[in-house]
Amino acid sequence: MCGIIGILGKTQAVPRMMEALKRLEYRGYDSAGVATVADGRLDRRRAPGKLSALEAVLADSPLAGLSGIGHTRWATHGEPTEANAHPHMTDRIAIVHNGIIENFRPLKDELLATGVRFEGETDTEVVARLLTRYLNEGLAPRDAFRKTLGRLEGAFALCVLISGDDDLMFGAREGSPLVVGLGDGENYLGSDAMALAGLSNRLIYLEEGDWAELKRGGLQVYDAAGNPVTRPVTLSQVAATMVDKGNHRHFMQKEIFEQPTVVAQALGRYLDPNEGTVRLPDMPFELADIPKVTLVACGTSYYAAQVARYWIEKIARVPVEVDIASEFRYRDPVYQAGGLAIFISQSGETADTLAALRHAKAAGQRIAALVNVMGSTMAREADLVLPIHAGPEIGVASTKAFTCQLSVLAAFAIKLGVARGLVDRAREADYVSELEQTPKLMARVLHNDGKMAEIARQIADARDILFVGRGIQFPIAMEGALKLKEISYIHAEGYAAGELKHGPIALIDEKVPVIGLAPKDELIDKTVSNLQEIMARKGRVVLISDNAEHEDGLLARFPMPPAGDLVAPILYAIPVQLLAYYTAVEKGTDVDQPRNLAKSVTVE
Ligand code: F6R
Repeated sequence: MCGIIGILGKTQAVPRMMEALKRLEYRGYDSAGVATVADGRLDRRRAPGKLSALEAVLADSPLAGLSGIGHTRWATHGEPTEANAHPHMTDRIAIVHNGIIENFRPLKDELLATGVRFEGETDTEVVARLLTRYLNEGLAPRDAFRKTLGRLEGAFALCVLISGDDDLMFGAREGSPLVVGLGDGENYLGSDAMALAGLSNRLIYLEEGDWAELKRGGLQVYDAAGNPVTRPVTLSQVAATMVDKGNHRHFMQKEIFEQPTVVAQALGRYLDPNEGTVRLPDMPFELADIPKVTLVACGTSYYAAQVARYWIEKIARVPVEVDIASEFRYRDPVYQAGGLAIFISQSGETADTLAALRHAKAAGQRIAALVNVMGSTMAREADLVLPIHAGPEIGVASTKAFTCQLSVLAAFAIKLGVARGLVDRAREADYVSELEQTPKLMARVLHNDGKMAEIARQIADARDILFVGRGIQFPIAMEGALKLKEISYIHAEGYAAGELKHGPIALIDEKVPVIGLAPKDELIDKTVSNLQEIMARKGRVVLISDNAEHEDGLLARFPMPPAGDLVAPILYAIPVQLLAYYTAVEKGTDVDQPRNLAKSVTVE
C-alpha cells in the first residue's frame, strides 16, 4: 500500500526520493508526491497516476532542497486526485501518512468549527491542520507533534517537515510500520527496508507508539508516553540491486523463475540432508504438546494454509482449523488451551492477519509467524518466527513467497509428526529426501514455459475460467484462479472437482476453459471423470498432469513430472502462475502492478 520516504541529506533530496519511491512502486499506489524544505520554505509537487506523471511535473517545475518527504498513495479516503495526493501542506508543515486516522471526522468537525478550511477529502489533511493549529498556538514543534499524536486514533505512520527548519523531521508509528535509516551526516525515514535500500543498511524499526525527532547529526526516539528510548540498530539484508528485474520483462516473471533457487534456500534452512532430519528454530514451547493448530492468513497465504492443513492432519494427526484473517477474529473463534496459532504472511504487515494474531495472543494461544520480512510487525510479536527466505518479492501477485511458504510448512508438518512420535527416523529421512527433490523438479516444470505461453494464447479471450482440483490440489486450483483474475482481469474461480456437479457445471459451455490439476495419485481417476463431464458439455479442458493417458478431447495437456503429496502442491503452483503470467502478457495488462491492488495491505 502507501509508501513513505523522508531524507535529511547533504545532496538534493528530490532525485533520491524519486529513486526510493520507485523502489516502493511494488506496494501499489495511484498517486504520488514530494515536498522539500529549503531555506526554511516548504514546497511540494504532486500528481495522480504513476511516478512518471510526477516526474513530468518535476521536469516542468523542479523542486530544490536537501530535506524532503515523499509518498506513494493507495487511495482509501477520497479519489486518487492531485488534491488528495500526499504530501499535505500548510504554511507551517508538510506531512505524508500511511494508514487510516479513524477519528478524523470528529477532529475535522472540531477544526471546521474554529474556521479551519480544508482543501481535500483525506483523513491525513486533518493531521496537517491539527498540527498547524498547535504550532500557531505557539507550541514548539516537538510539543506540537506530540500533542497531535495524542489526539489521533487508528493506524498510522507519519513523516513531517516543519517550515523554518531545514534540519528537522518527525516520524511516528502506530499500527503502520516506519523505519529510521542512519546515514553518515544524514538520516532517513522509510515505510520499509526497501524504501531505504541504497541509502542506509543501518535501520531502527520504530515500535508501536514510538515517535522520533531526526536531525542530520542526531536522532531521538520517544515511546508513546514521551520517554526518550533507545531502540536496537539492525543491519538490513535488502540491497538496492535486489529491486532489479535483471533480464526479465517483469518482476513477476523473474520471481517465478527464481523459485528453484529460493525454494532450495528455504529448504536448506529447514532440512539437514546428511542427517535426514528437519530442523526448526528453537521453540519456546513443546511441539509434542500442541493439541490443535490454527492457521490464519489472507489471499495467497491463505491458500498456503489450506495446503498445510492436508499435510499437518495427514502427517502429524493434529486437528487443524484454517481461516481467512478478516473473518477469523469477528466470529468469536473457539480456541483450545495450549493451541498453536500460525499466522502466514509474506509481508508480515497485513492488517487483518496482524489483528487476528493479536486476538489469538490475547486469548493465550502460542503464536507462530511464517513471514518473509524478518523485521515485520508479525515477526516481532510472535513467540516463534518461521522465516520463508524467499528474498524481496516485488510483483504484486505473490509467487515465490507462496512456494517458499509451502516448503516451510511441509518441513513444519514433518517436525510436528516427529515430535508426536508418528514419524520415525526412517520416515523423516524419506520425507526429507522427497522434499530435497523439489527445486530440481521445479526447474523441469519451468523448462516447459513455452508450452504454457501457447496455452495462454488459446484462452486469453475467455470471459470466465474455472480451475479444478481434488484433495491437496484444491487449494492450488483456488490459487490459480486468484492469480489469473488479479493480473489478467479474467473472471476465474477455483473449485473442488467433486463440487462442480453441485452448481458450477451450469457455467460450462464451449466458451469456458477449465484448468484441471490432476497429479497421478489415488484421486486422479475421480478428477479425470469430472473433467470428462465438463468435456461432454463442450467445456475446453486444459489438463495439468503427469499422466499422459487421458489426452483425448483436451484443449491441451501441460506435462508435469511425477511427484508425491509433499512436493506436488509446490510443483503445481508453477503452471498456474505461468498461465496467469502469459495470459496477462497476452492481454497487455500491468503485470507487476495490477489495477486496484496493493502489495502490503495495511488497512482492514
Ligand atoms: C495474491 C497476493 C495476496 C496476498 C495477501 C496476503 O497474489 O499476493 O492475496 O497473498 O494480500 O498478503 P501477505 O502474505 O503479505 O499477508
